[in-house]
Amino acid sequence: MKEAHIIETADGSSSIHAPQFNASYHSLHGALQESRHVFIQQGLDLFTASNKIHLLEIGFGSGLNALLAWNWAIEHSVEISYTGIEAYPLDPEMLHDFHVGDAGSRDQFMQLHQSEWEVTNHVSPLFSIHKKKLNWPQFELEQQYDLLFYDAFAPNCQPELWEKEALECCVNSMRSGGIWVSYCAKGEVRRMLISQGCDVERLPGPPFKRHMLRARKH
Ligand SMILES: C[S@@+](CC[C@H](N)C(=O)[O-])C[C@H]1O[C@@H](n2cnc3c(N)ncnc32)[C@H](O)[C@@H]1O
Repeated sequence: MKEAHIIETADGSSSIHAPQFNASYHSLHGALQESRHVFIQQGLDLFTASNKIHLLEIGFGSGLNALLAWNWAIEHSVEISYTGIEAYPLDPEMLHDFHVGDAGSRDQFMQLHQSEWEVTNHVSPLFSIHKKKLNWPQFELEQQYDLLFYDAFAPNCQPELWEKEALECCVNSMRSGGIWVSYCAKGEVRRMLISQGCDVERLPGPPFKRHMLRARKH
């Protein structure tokens, strides 16, 4: 079977194509542009007044969102404890030519990939990373999170990750007042999050995408 490989997106940043799902990890219109819009501007930017954020990402993938979060922590002097869930970790060796644009340094990027799985790695005073290899929603909750980046493949590739059980696991993982963000804008997903006790906003999406969703747990 063909292996996952690096592709270039329109803003010059890289993404990964996963033949197993026939899907790319990011928008082909610009991986970095999409990640910044959805996860940083509509997610982390709500937390500039916090001292510390417990952040959970479903789909660690290329680590691009984690890298952006690390540099956001430095820029805003806010500590982030990042947990990344990934069912199919990439081999760091294949990522040498992955372009992260101005999301951070190559050294930071490789530190995220080389950090040990299943333990907390304090890669800098303001950022720790804990990568967990598991299949969402098979997740043992140890704490509740302030912010969730929900970055699974799209509903047409992975419908089960957008159904009740997977979304319920997200909501259970959030503290009251916690935020969930995703590039997905599907009405059914929105309705399920509302029925599980969230207020949900449909926000403008990144370039070439009309909408995205952001939920806040009651
Ligand atoms: C859209 S990509 C995420 C991109 C990633 N956030 C990044 O910045 O590169 C989806 C990711 O979810 C992972 N994934 C797919 N199914 C999963 C599951 N059931 N549990 C955990 N991760 C899963 C994929 O391997 C892939 O890395």
